[in-house]
Amino acid sequence: MLERLQAMKDQALADLTNKDDIVALEAWRVMYLGKKGELSTALRSMGSLSQEERPVVGQVVNEIRAVLEQTFETKRSQVLQKAANEEERRNQLDITLPGRTPFLGAEHPLQKVIRRIEDIFLGFGFTIEEGPHVETDYFNFEALNLPKDHPARDMQDTFYIHSELLLRTHTSPMQARTLLARQPELPVRIIVPGRVYRRDDDDATHSHEFTQMEGLVVDHGISMSDLKGVLLTFAKELFGEHQQIRLRPSFFPFTEPSAEMDVRCIYCGGDGCSTCKHTGWIEILGCGMVHPHVLTMGGYHEEGITGFAFGMGMERIAMLLYGITDIRQFYMNDLRLLDQFTQIAR
Ligand code: DAH
Repeated sequence: MLERLQAMKDQALADLTNKDDIVALEAWRVMYLGKKGELSTALRSMGSLSQEERPVVGQVVNEIRAVLEQTFETKRSQVLQKAANEEERRNQLDITLPGRTPFLGAEHPLQKVIRRIEDIFLGFGFTIEEGPHVETDYFNFEALNLPKDHPARDMQDTFYIHSELLLRTHTSPMQARTLLARQPELPVRIIVPGRVYRRDDDDATHSHEFTQMEGLVVDHGISMSDLKGVLLTFAKELFGEHQQIRLRPSFFPFTEPSAEMDVRCIYCGGDGCSTCKHTGWIEILGCGMVHPHVLTMGGYHEEGITGFAFGMGMERIAMLLYGITDIRQFYMNDLRLLDQFTQIAR
């Protein structure tokens, strides 16, 4: 009996050495120390022993139980400690791991240019107005001195919704709308950025949908030199301190006189290159003195109140500034184009 107990003890201790998780440990405890375990079974069988043997065996059983319990406790706390350490290690922040780079969006090149130009005119004391894209024939044409059947309407192929309603072909209707809304208040100093629409076959330089920025200044005694001063300062702010401009006579029904403004070619500086078609100049906007009919229809009748206006295409300027050669690129949302603007500070 004593030998069997001794063998059981050795077996139990040997078994315990490779138990390294709490579930296996508990199974071990049930097997050797539990109520139906080996030791309890041995105790229960003591009835068959002689009087002399009983106390001896009883003592040995108790000793074995003490040894097993103690070894078990030591092992259990080791296993628990190890599990706690592992948990802690898993929760630890590994500051040597490279971080995940967040995906950075970029402001669309067109939006960038609009914002830059807005900033320039805000600095001049202009405010920003926006108007409806679905416009009446009246504001898009008539209030701008373009009566029905005026041949100049052919300059802008129009998407009509019906005979009196259309998609605006330019931002100029906001000249008429703003005058009517503000009259007789002075001065009027606004810019109007926004999308415009024309029936055009899309190609590298034409889009049926594009973006303009209109400008309008009305006050007592505004003259052509005000127009020139504001637009020259604008060109210098946008393209650089040494930028030159020139005004060429032109025709728009809502301005008289009318002009087109060129800037010195920003690529060749005026020497002539393919971008400026070897003229040394690049046209960027139309402008002129507000036609008296437009002022009158807008509610400004008083003698001596004059104004100037201008309108420019945003895509064209963005194409110049960023060297984009196809206007359709602004609308294709090709990430290979847009990604390039993540880093550009302009
Ligand atoms: N609305 C004209 C266009 O789309 C551009 C323009 C020319 C606007 C002269 C003006 C201006 O305000 O004065 O072609």
